[in-house]
Amino acid sequence: MDTLKSLYAEAVRVVENAYAPYSRFKVGAAVLMENERGERRVFTGVNVENASYGLTVCAERVAVFKGVSEGYRKVIALSLLAVKDGEVVPVLPCGACRQVLWEFAEGDTPIYNGERTYSLGDLLPGGFRLD
Ligand code: THU
Repeated sequence: MDTLKSLYAEAVRVVENAYAPYSRFKVGAAVLMENERGERRVFTGVNVENASYGLTVCAERVAVFKGVSEGYRKVIALSLLAVKDGEVVPVLPCGACRQVLWEFAEGDTPIYNGERTYSLGDLLPGGFRLD
C-alpha cells in the first residue's frame, strides 16, 4: 500500500473520534511528518468543536500540531476524509488549514482525499511566507 493510501486508512481509523456534536460533520486526517534527524512518523487528527463555535479546530491542524509538538516540522503527505450521516464525503482542507500546512510543507506536498491527489500548491497558489 502506498503512503497516501496508508495515511487514508489511518484517517479512516480515527474519524469516529471526531468531536463534532454541532455540525455532525466528522473529519479525520493523517499526516506523515519528518523531524530534523530525518525520522518520519504519522500523526492523526480529528476536528474538535466547541459550544463557542469559533473555537473549533479542524482535523488537519490537530494532526499537524501534534507533529510539531513532537519535533516533526516537515509535512511529507496528508490524507483526509469526512463522514456525514454515516457516509464518507471526500473533502479538502479549508483555507486556514491550507495556510497552516504551507508553513510546514512544500508546494508539491501531496494531499489525498480518497478520490484524487492534489498538491498543496494547487490548493494554495501564492501561499503567504515571510521570506
Ligand atoms: N473541518 C475540518 O476539520 N477540516 C476542514 O478542512 C474543513 C472543516 C471541520 C470543522 C467543523 O468541525 C466541521 O468540519 C464543519 O465545518
